[in-house]
Amino acid sequence: MSETKKNVKLRSAEWFGTQDKNGFMYRSWMKNQGIPDHEFQGKPIIGICNTWSELTPCNAHFRKIAEHVKKGIIEAGGWPVEFPVFSSGESNLRPTAMLTRNLASMDVEESIRGNPMDAVVLLVGCDKTTPALLMGAASCDIPAIVVTGGPMLNGKLNGKSIGSGTAVWQLHEQVKAGEITMHDFLAAEAGHSRSAGTCNTMGTASTMACMAEALGTSLPHNAAIPAVDARRYVLAHMSGMRIVDMVWEDLRLSKILTREAFENAIRVNAAIGGSTNAVIHLKAIAGRIGVDLELEDWTRVGRGTPTVVDLLPSGRFLMEEFYYAGGLPGVLRRLGEHGLLPNKDALTVNGKTIWENNQDAPIYDEEVIRPIDKPLIKDGGICILRGNLAPRGAVLKPSAASPHLMQHRGRAIVFEDFDHYKTRILDPDLDVDENCVLVMKNCGPKGYPGMAEVGNMGLPPKLLAKGIKDMVRISDARMSGTAYGTVVLHVAPEAMAGGPLGIVRDGDIISLDCAGGRLDVEISDAEMQQRLADRAETQVKGAKSGYQQLYIDHVLQADEGCDFDFLVGMRGSAVPKHSH
Ligand code: FES
Ligand code: MG
Repeated sequence: MSETKKNVKLRSAEWFGTQDKNGFMYRSWMKNQGIPDHEFQGKPIIGICNTWSELTPCNAHFRKIAEHVKKGIIEAGGWPVEFPVFSSGESNLRPTAMLTRNLASMDVEESIRGNPMDAVVLLVGCDKTTPALLMGAASCDIPAIVVTGGPMLNGKLNGKSIGSGTAVWQLHEQVKAGEITMHDFLAAEAGHSRSAGTCNTMGTASTMACMAEALGTSLPHNAAIPAVDARRYVLAHMSGMRIVDMVWEDLRLSKILTREAFENAIRVNAAIGGSTNAVIHLKAIAGRIGVDLELEDWTRVGRGTPTVVDLLPSGRFLMEEFYYAGGLPGVLRRLGEHGLLPNKDALTVNGKTIWENNQDAPIYDEEVIRPIDKPLIKDGGICILRGNLAPRGAVLKPSAASPHLMQHRGRAIVFEDFDHYKTRILDPDLDVDENCVLVMKNCGPKGYPGMAEVGNMGLPPKLLAKGIKDMVRISDARMSGTAYGTVVLHVAPEAMAGGPLGIVRDGDIISLDCAGGRLDVEISDAEMQQRLADRAETQVKGAKSGYQQLYIDHVLQADEGCDFDFLVGMRGSAVPKHSH
């Protein structure tokens, strides 16, 4: 068995380090790829976990990124082995990419543990690919480094920048309100996604890229370098070099993904105006590594933090400008200088602390990364709500909401599910005004299934035509990180799991109090109990695949990160039995 210069026992030597029948088999078949014998002699074998897929357009450029990672690995004395895993692509995958985040995480975990690798580079981009790969790698707890694919260049329409996703929601409402022509709508489609990369707004992909950097799982600047900027390839090369040393240093994910790292990430999410989806994904990652993260941590650590990054959907700019302005290092420095980075000593993948990495980071544009005393939003972060309508919590993103609606009472207009919403909202006779509260059921983890991003229900066309731009909306669904509005999401327990959301009726008065963290339906406890007792059992509609049934049977609620009950926890990377 090979021993390293620093007495680190290479995991891969359990495959390639013996002269017996097993060693023969493991090496010989690998040699059909033209690998010389000396590559098997004590070099760290580095997996490159690739979510490349032409059906995940945001990750379709990943083979080129992998080539640069490989150069770095070889330069540092390791040997790269690239492997594919299930690619949960947001734009194409139906009924929702969230349904397969856990599937991908299982794929990652089993691929790592069952194969000869000493460490892994996680190639991630589109929303779900980042949490899926971190979840799988965290359950194995081997050295891992995140390399993100990077955001698309700014979208363009009529000479102006348009933001991924956000433009779609806006333009669609404008078409419905008769404010723009179908010709403009289609012109936007052509200029919206004009380079490789992920959504260029501070949507979920950009948010999770920032989370990976704030957690310390990537090199500095990983989050924001545009996908097609050559510096992205340099970063991939450097990450490949670094992961080899991480093997020798035995720098495992559990040393990086500490409670302190998650607190930093929550604070950063507030500062960047990040997606509500981060609440679910960080909880799921934390659950895998054994860090106990609660919804209230988002209130305790996140609230009160100014949002300083002025990006769509909350602000004005896009990821390209964010990188040129200084990227996440600039934000981390700004937070740290104002006592707002809770754990400066948190370790990162390059062996330095988050503060050592970022304390001198320059900021080039204070319109994009604003001064602390001139924030985009004074009190950013995610608002956590509880009440008789959401006993296990719900979330709202204040920076994407309308200030005048954050304290609101209104009459409920209830949709039993997304299909009901789609037909009923178009009814010209629907008795609705702008003070009503739109309530949608059965779009949660079990109900949809997969908790689709349908929570930002479009407004009734007749109110749009009146110029109404926002209403309070409540559901057990998620919302795209590129969307906006006074939208209460992730209501837990969901309607399909017996949550009180399921008993709301047309005409009930709903009260939302963001400052007080409350979400209630104004009925008595006795009435609530009676309605819950009277409720008929509902089933998920339509044919279900085997995987969908597994999902419905085992998915945890939003407050627990929507992981599968049997996947929570770290199972390590002990080498399995021989296959022959
Ligand atoms: Fe892939 Fe937005 S659709 S990042
Ligand atoms: Mg998204």
